[in-house]
Amino acid sequence: MVENVLVSVAWPYANAEIHVGNLTGAYLPADIFSRFQRLRGRKVLMVSGSDAHGTPITVRADAENTTALEVYQKFHNGFLELFMGLGLTYDLFSSTHTINHFDVSQKIFLALKKNGYLYSDRELQWYAPSQKRFLPDRYVEGTCYICGYENARSDQCDKCGNLLDPAQLLNPRSKVDGSAPELRETEHTYLDLGKLQPAVVEFLKQREGYWRPNVLRQSLGQILANNLHGRAITRDLDWGIPVPLEGWDGKCLYVWFEAVIGYLSASIEWSKLNGNPDAWLEWWHGPQSQSYYFIGKDNIPFHAVIWPAQLTGCGKAFDELMGVTNPAPLNLPYDVPANEFMNLENQKISGSRNWAVWGRDVLTRYDPDPLRYYLTVNMPETKDTDWDWEDFFHRNNDELVATWGNLANRVLSFTCRHWENQVPDPGELTGQDKDLLAEVEKGFETIAVEMEGVHLRNALAEGMRLATEVNKYLDQTAPWMAIKTDKAAAARSVFTALKAIDSIKVLLAPFLPFTSERLHGFFGYSQPLFGKQFIDTIEDELGAHTALRYDPDGASGRWEISTLEPGRKLVNPQPLFKKLDASIIEEERKRLG
Ligand code: MF3
Ligand code: ZN
Repeated sequence: MVENVLVSVAWPYANAEIHVGNLTGAYLPADIFSRFQRLRGRKVLMVSGSDAHGTPITVRADAENTTALEVYQKFHNGFLELFMGLGLTYDLFSSTHTINHFDVSQKIFLALKKNGYLYSDRELQWYAPSQKRFLPDRYVEGTCYICGYENARSDQCDKCGNLLDPAQLLNPRSKVDGSAPELRETEHTYLDLGKLQPAVVEFLKQREGYWRPNVLRQSLGQILANNLHGRAITRDLDWGIPVPLEGWDGKCLYVWFEAVIGYLSASIEWSKLNGNPDAWLEWWHGPQSQSYYFIGKDNIPFHAVIWPAQLTGCGKAFDELMGVTNPAPLNLPYDVPANEFMNLENQKISGSRNWAVWGRDVLTRYDPDPLRYYLTVNMPETKDTDWDWEDFFHRNNDELVATWGNLANRVLSFTCRHWENQVPDPGELTGQDKDLLAEVEKGFETIAVEMEGVHLRNALAEGMRLATEVNKYLDQTAPWMAIKTDKAAAARSVFTALKAIDSIKVLLAPFLPFTSERLHGFFGYSQPLFGKQFIDTIEDELGAHTALRYDPDGASGRWEISTLEPGRKLVNPQPLFKKLDASIIEEERKRLG
């Protein structure tokens, strides 16, 4: 029986604002999934943080004449504000710039070393003679030697998604001043992926059949076609985690090597913060726990190949270094439901051209639930999708407001008006009433299956379909007419509709947590559906870092049809959603570019 669910969410680079493409790609689906699992009664640990190191941060700091620390802190604090506003319930959203993460990352390094999966070698790296420094990763751009894309970064091509060998990049140019760098020899530590390949292939083969085809293609498919080769996991860079070896001053762990370790280090940090330092073991050991990694497609090789290789290579040695009482191997990813990309008005989202809908900005004009709704109906689960403002307008007015918000509001106000704010006694239910409730009850099964498979769009569509069924039922039973001639018949259909709405509220709660919680309050419940998010400041030897946390506050379970009983006191409802004016379409389009 699966009891624990680890929800690992991609760590955003703290070098840019987050836009809707990032949100729908990884962060929002992770929250929807976590909320569902909590409602189901599972023990969820949802972790992530800011990816604070490496050249993504230092290149930006250099360009703006400021420090990497300042760049990271500024964007990190913006992330916390956005995630609070959008209701992303991370149990812990931390950062890679914490002493805990340094320590855990160094221990993973040492565990791999102990087991013989690291070696050091001298290799050719790009070097800028004018500045007397090496230019790792994003400091050099050029033409991809695999697909010919002209703006590939030296370590990864955004066009074909391949990880690159920097020295093979064609037409290299320095990101600092555009000059041509030269190759110089330098010493680095390598992860022996060749040696780990059989274990990784075995791991991936066990996942055939339920992983998304695109993820398997970019992991198992790539390995079988090209084989794995040793990969440098250190860099000539001074911003990051020191290499835990004598004589390696001035070098750091490669950002991709240590950032993925964040899932583990944040689990450990969360355990310490809760005063139960061994709690993480529940999510990292044993078959009662499953881990899901929510990422965008550009992150697939790091999560589906390299991270599993790192974990396998550690064996029990990480636990031993941590002083765990019964050392065991760490759990490998159960699923990596990577999403494709979201475009905007038929063009690729681009921060530099301001062709983007920015998370914090859009939240100043719209409520979180309509945004979450639109991001879910348009989630790029199987193919690239498009954010279109006219579509947003229609989805809000014709679906959220018309099908769901009005339904809840109409039935609740009608009940409050005619039965003095109390759920009426229905007497004997008719076949039609029972059919509707049976269909809603079945929704808990159907939607659970979709959710477990991380088909969130289907799950939401099924919830909305049930709302449409309730509307049809009300059209047929017309309690607003019946009330004048047959109050008992009106009571029966109002009771049935209330019970259906109270249930659909739970089905939609992972997607629409704010309005579902309000609706839950109108139904007179005293215990909330979900716990609370808060921002915390944590001090350590590196200074202070802010973090987002979640307090479950006793809320858990409830994934079942409503048990609403006659006589329950209801609260006068307020509208859940706002109707939008068509003028927003042009207003929003004008902001782009
Ligand atoms: N920072 C990376 C990005 O934004 C994602 C890192 S995920 C991690 O693409 F697990 F490696 F941290
Ligand atoms: Zn390429």
